[in-house]
Amino acid sequence: MTRLRQTSGGRRIVLIAGLVSACLLIAEAQSGEGTSGGDTTVFDAGATAFGRALANLDPLRWNEFRADKERFVRKWPQRGPVADAAACVDCHFLDGRGPKPGQVPSGLSHLLRLGRPTGGGDPIYGIQLRRTGHGVPAQGQFAVGWEETSGRYASGERYSLRRPFVQVSELAYGPFDPETRMSLRVPLAVFGLGLLEAVPEPQILEWADRGEADGEVVSGKPQRVYDPVAGRLSLGRFGWKAGQPSLEAQSAAALFHDIGVTSPLQPSAFPSAVANGVETSPEVDRAEVVALAQYLRALAVPARRGTADPAVRLGERLFADIGCGDCHRQRLTTGHVPDWPALSHQAIQPYTDLLLHDMGEQLADGLVDARASGQEWRTTPLWGLGLLELISPDAGLLHDGRARSPEEAILWHGGEAAKARARFVVLRSGERDALLAFLRSL
Ligand code: HEC
Ligand code: HEC
Repeated sequence: MTRLRQTSGGRRIVLIAGLVSACLLIAEAQSGEGTSGGDTTVFDAGATAFGRALANLDPLRWNEFRADKERFVRKWPQRGPVADAAACVDCHFLDGRGPKPGQVPSGLSHLLRLGRPTGGGDPIYGIQLRRTGHGVPAQGQFAVGWEETSGRYASGERYSLRRPFVQVSELAYGPFDPETRMSLRVPLAVFGLGLLEAVPEPQILEWADRGEADGEVVSGKPQRVYDPVAGRLSLGRFGWKAGQPSLEAQSAAALFHDIGVTSPLQPSAFPSAVANGVETSPEVDRAEVVALAQYLRALAVPARRGTADPAVRLGERLFADIGCGDCHRQRLTTGHVPDWPALSHQAIQPYTDLLLHDMGEQLADGLVDARASGQEWRTTPLWGLGLLELISPDAGLLHDGRARSPEEAILWHGGEAAKARARFVVLRSGERDALLAFLRSL
């Protein structure tokens, strides 16, 4: 009896402790500070944080979620004639930004995009150098090397930066066209994208091309790309240059360019020299692409951590004060999404305006992608930034993975972001630490 009573007393304490921490989370959630994804937010700060279903997803859809996830994880048998990988998870391990750690010898999962200053890809190799061939030779290989430079903050501390250089080898069809430029890209994490897809266009355009005459105002440029689902030009939202208008279009493009699988949305043949007469009618039907897009829509945003920490709060204020938030916009609201009550009318905190910005020569790749020039990039959403180190430790930040930390990423900001960078480098070291603590809390 006594033992039993003791046990239930112990349970009661555990229960009370559990209730207290649940109340704290709810209190944080109610203040809206930690719940970056609105009601979809999941409280997971571990390695699985990017792969969780929307917290408010109808339980009747959980089986569908699991079935759709299988397509993200599976090796596609239809791949070819050339590809970079066999499965989405080869580059988005744990729904993040790279392969399973240690899987790639260089420690980085890069793609090599090809393009020209006037738009379009290389006339022979297309828009991406694929490193495996199925029944035809691989298009080529490449290796990444690094160049280090260093600098000094106004307060005296030194920092060091690295930038990549690419060496291409074993090109199967001779050298690139003289006009062709190379652009190294690391993958982007894939959570929270259903919410970004659901932000109504007018809300994004409201921040576009404001005050061009007034040099003080930072103004983004909307990307415009062909949407194969709608059959018309549409706002680009996904990818480093916002080159994809929807998750269906993005999934079809990933299947085709990364895995070599054609679908009704991406039936296009490879340039004839590469295709070598290989059959190009769609290998999978539209339903497969839709299922991938549904999987992406159902991925939740992880909650912030440590929002009550005074350093984090100071960092948050500095982030706004020095102009980071002019592009990395804290708040957006989703509209009505047919068939997706869980994604509809959510107040979210993605820290992006989904617009293109000129980031200066240092980050330029010289490639034109629809309306994006060689210097323009989409403002990267910062939600989940603090968990990237845990989930995708090898990836690096910025489009080519050059930044080993958020601090290095800021120091590369130029162009329209040059003023914000200049205000960052003159902060006192304690203020800089606070800003970085805030970024780690995202
Ligand atoms: C070979 C590596 C690779 C494979 C395989 C791959 N991806 Fe990606 N993914 C990338 C890279 C690199 C980017 C960024 C591309 C860019 O914008 O230049 C990206 C971007 C994305 C994005 C945009 C995310 C955002 O925040 O805008 C989505 C969504 C995505 N991939 C989904 C998929 C799906 C679905 C599959 C499987 C069908 C897949 N990817 C397979 C490398 C890969
Ligand atoms: C003019 C718009 C603009 C301003 C202002 C700006 N950023 Fe950015 N930021 C961007 C764009 C665009 C990128 C993507 C650049 C790239 O990948 O080459 C980016 C990338 C980043 C990244 C890397 C994200 C990742 O996941 O790779 C971090 C971190 C970041 N910004 C933080 C900041 C901070 C902190 C400030 C204020 C000091 C700031 N930014 C100011 C537009 C801006």
